[in-house]
Amino acid sequence: MPEKWFCTICYHEEETFSPPASCPQCDADRKSLLQSGAEQVDPKSSQSTVRPQTLEEVRDLARNRLKGICAVYPHCDGRSERICQREAYGKPIGIGGVGSGSSFRANITALAGLRLKTRLIDDHFEPDTSFSFCGIELSMPIMGASPSGVGRFNDSITEYDFCRATIRGCRETGTLTWRGDTWFYTQNSFPSLDALEKEGGFGIPIFKPRSQDILKSLIERAEKANCPAVGVDLDGCGSTIMTRHGQQVYRKSVRELRELVKFTSLPFIAKGIMTPEDGEACVEAGVQVVAVSNHGGRVLDSTPGVAEVLPQIVERLGGKVVITADGGIRTGFDALKLLALGADGVLVGRDIIRAAVGGGSLGVKMHMERLQQTLKRAMVMTGCPDLSHIDTEIIA
Ligand SMILES: Cc1cc2nc3c(=O)[nH]c(=O)nc-3n(C[C@H](O)[C@H](O)[C@H](O)COP(=O)(O)O)c2cc1C
Repeated sequence: MPEKWFCTICYHEEETFSPPASCPQCDADRKSLLQSGAEQVDPKSSQSTVRPQTLEEVRDLARNRLKGICAVYPHCDGRSERICQREAYGKPIGIGGVGSGSSFRANITALAGLRLKTRLIDDHFEPDTSFSFCGIELSMPIMGASPSGVGRFNDSITEYDFCRATIRGCRETGTLTWRGDTWFYTQNSFPSLDALEKEGGFGIPIFKPRSQDILKSLIERAEKANCPAVGVDLDGCGSTIMTRHGQQVYRKSVRELRELVKFTSLPFIAKGIMTPEDGEACVEAGVQVVAVSNHGGRVLDSTPGVAEVLPQIVERLGGKVVITADGGIRTGFDALKLLALGADGVLVGRDIIRAAVGGGSLGVKMHMERLQQTLKRAMVMTGCPDLSHIDTEIIA
């Protein structure tokens, strides 16, 4: 009996006796192909290669595929007994937090410490989550963040397909993803840019703080690919994995940042800002977007959580630049909290990894749709018809 194979990247279906070596339509790797319509295999089984129908099934598949790396807990919080932390000592960081994991946990506890106020009595409305970012109209103020390196966790997905899954899944939900940069990205093989070139540039590459010359040549490639913006994760200057693989990373001065801002015609994002002082330096350098982030707690142990520092940064920079925030967002309720503290837009990291590993573009699309649903629900309950109504008044 021939079986139907489904490409989780481009949704092409093919009927063959054995899985094709790659998707005949989009060239996705064999690992991104799943059986379609074969109901007999329980998606929870580790043998499952069946197309997931729900986000829960996507997460079940991700749990199977990320064994020993991430258990796809209902609540991903970086606690010390979690797989990503418990098994991390002396091993690569995987999906966990650096060192003790306290920076990762601080993001979660800071968000959990904020309570939302219900505001129920007034006219009914259908919440409008539309959002404009770097000249693009998006369906919501929630974007995919820039995690990278997933293709080297194990054999679940190639880095190129991971990048394409996040780009396509976000685009299908009317939003954008940012794309990262890591130790095995080289000028000859740069999976995020390769994927962005293939997908019409619909995503924002965030480069490691490499040498100015390398950054300029990567930025030129992003411009040619039609990306709407470019950025650098300035907190990547502490990456030991980059230097171990001979990829030098640097702290950047205001002068160097300004040079990059002037070099490109695109909006420039400075990611990894955790203090008002660094934020002001970014404004001085002329960056258009300050991304408040502690890299999901992966670069410096013992930082505060993003929700703790965001209000001071917003107060100091408010109105001068666009401010985004990420770290610990798992639901639309979490997203609403960071928006209430003054972020213009927010991003999700670990959850798009799990969604892409479990279901390719389809998984990312399902996850982003779920986030939009919960954000809308939270906006109805807190009396916010659109983004302009979201402010600190909704924090209890
Ligand atoms: C496995 C992994 C790899 C990451 N790689 C990058 C990267 O290459 N560049 C970057 O800007 N951020 C990177 N990040 C950080 C994310 O972009 C984002 O800031 C963070 O994951 C948000 O926190 P959350 O995972 O709790 O949502 C990475 C995060 C994870 C979990």
